[in-house]
Amino acid sequence: MTKRAIITSALPYANGEIHLGHVASTYLPADVTTRFLKLTGVEAYYVCASDDFGTPILIQSEKEGKSPAEYVAHWNKRDYEDFSSFDIDFDYFYKTSSEENITFVQDVFNKLNDAGHIYEQEIIQSYCTDCEKFLPDRYVKGSCPHCSAEDQYSDLCEVCGRIPEEILNPKCAICGKPPIKEKTNHYFFKLKNFGDSLHQWLEENNHLQKDVKKYVQNWIKSGLIDWDITRDISWGVPVPLDDAKGKVFYGWFDNHLAYISTAIKFLNDKGIDGKEFWNSAEIYHFIGKDIVYHHYLFLPAMRLGIESEYKLPDYIPTRGHLTLQAKKISKSRNWYIGLKEFLQFYPADYLRYYLVSINPYSQDDLNFDWDDFATRINSELIGNLGNFVNRALGFTKKAFDGTVPEPETFDEKDSEAEQKIKSLSSDVGTLMEQNHLDRALKKIMEFSSYFNQYFQHKEPWKKGPGTANCVYLSVNAARSLAIAILPFMPTSANKIWNQLGLGDTISAKWVDMSELGISANHSLGEASPLFSKVESEDIENHKKQLGPSE
Ligand code: 2FM
Ligand code: ZN
Repeated sequence: MTKRAIITSALPYANGEIHLGHVASTYLPADVTTRFLKLTGVEAYYVCASDDFGTPILIQSEKEGKSPAEYVAHWNKRDYEDFSSFDIDFDYFYKTSSEENITFVQDVFNKLNDAGHIYEQEIIQSYCTDCEKFLPDRYVKGSCPHCSAEDQYSDLCEVCGRIPEEILNPKCAICGKPPIKEKTNHYFFKLKNFGDSLHQWLEENNHLQKDVKKYVQNWIKSGLIDWDITRDISWGVPVPLDDAKGKVFYGWFDNHLAYISTAIKFLNDKGIDGKEFWNSAEIYHFIGKDIVYHHYLFLPAMRLGIESEYKLPDYIPTRGHLTLQAKKISKSRNWYIGLKEFLQFYPADYLRYYLVSINPYSQDDLNFDWDDFATRINSELIGNLGNFVNRALGFTKKAFDGTVPEPETFDEKDSEAEQKIKSLSSDVGTLMEQNHLDRALKKIMEFSSYFNQYFQHKEPWKKGPGTANCVYLSVNAARSLAIAILPFMPTSANKIWNQLGLGDTISAKWVDMSELGISANHSLGEASPLFSKVESEDIENHKKQLGPSE
């Protein structure tokens, strides 16, 4: 049977623009991986959705005088457009507020409830008598007990970054009146019940990153706490119980279930049995390290709680956060770069190249640095890859009128070069399969660099013996490069393909890069530079214009 895969990446909250930090840790690695899997013949689908529910979204929509549904529809559309302009190629982009997800979440809750994993408990909550509302954390503002900063949310001080145990001088975020404490009933998920089964699942799964696994196991050892899964607000998936009127699920109860409901909706619409596909596919959830707790504990526990009716993840590739000029990204302090803004100045492939190159398969943070960006694009992408392809194709045009010459007997150097082509797909493919996208890209660049040196060494411009072999092998190496970079830089890959006279879009499989797929007498297309230099003057301007500024 054809191998199958479903790839998801952390669902973006529908309340703001996508910035470089978002794409670096999740959407880009997931997109590169999906493109790779598809190239290797796996039936792979990349699904995502906007994360529509939750208190912050409700508050923001109220502030803007919009209904929450209108508000999230705006961001769903805008996010999807931004992703598309960055060549993030979702097979389907949906929303957690979809009918399908609401029904699915309620169904999962009922099953968990029937299995005895849910209980109701009275808790004390802030309540505003003026607004007649219970106030979840985001609705209560006050001064931070740690740094005294004023006007901070009670669940996070954005100035010192700490979580206040008890905010000082609490005020209702809507009307400004001090709230009172009131009793309410919430529903809890018995996460405590799942310590052993989570431990076993983690032990048995050999694809998960070892370091993440280790500290999740430590959390389990130190004892799990049951999880409050409901809120008394008006925007969310309604709790499907008669005595839970007005209560909705906490956003983190419903959002990751949208991985499943979205995939199933998409597959069923295609005429594929979605549930059967899910359960026979390799499941990948790409995330940033801030949401490890949710993905390694809540998410698997909920699936275990319904008898693994939907398969647990095989891979949860977890990466670090992007810092900007070595400082933590913060939207409220305007220390970020919007994706849309960035792409007004540079092609998507430049950013895709840069962000993959600096992003290891680990939880280490990675840093966007303007000067480093310029250096890598100029010296690596242009100086190495662009230079080699342009040299090989340009020379063939000039010296052979664009027609690939008949090779002669290979000398030692030629045979070595041929061998490089032959082993490229497995050399790079192994790293891709291990999720080491940065190292895979580096391997490809080493291949390009090798061929630059080979070309230089052969000196075909002297038209001596071996010139035909050099041209023949170099043109084939350019073809191999086009296929190899396709998951990383799809636009540039197709440009190379086109310049090689092979058509507008690559129609090859991953392993084809290791063949000498261009024969003698093939006519190339028009050669033109693939990239243009990033000017330091522009970089200085972007630093000022795009921010970040404090
Ligand atoms: O942290 C976030 O941005 C959340 N919106 C991620 C949700 S992923 C989930 F759906 F599992
Ligand atoms: Zn109020």
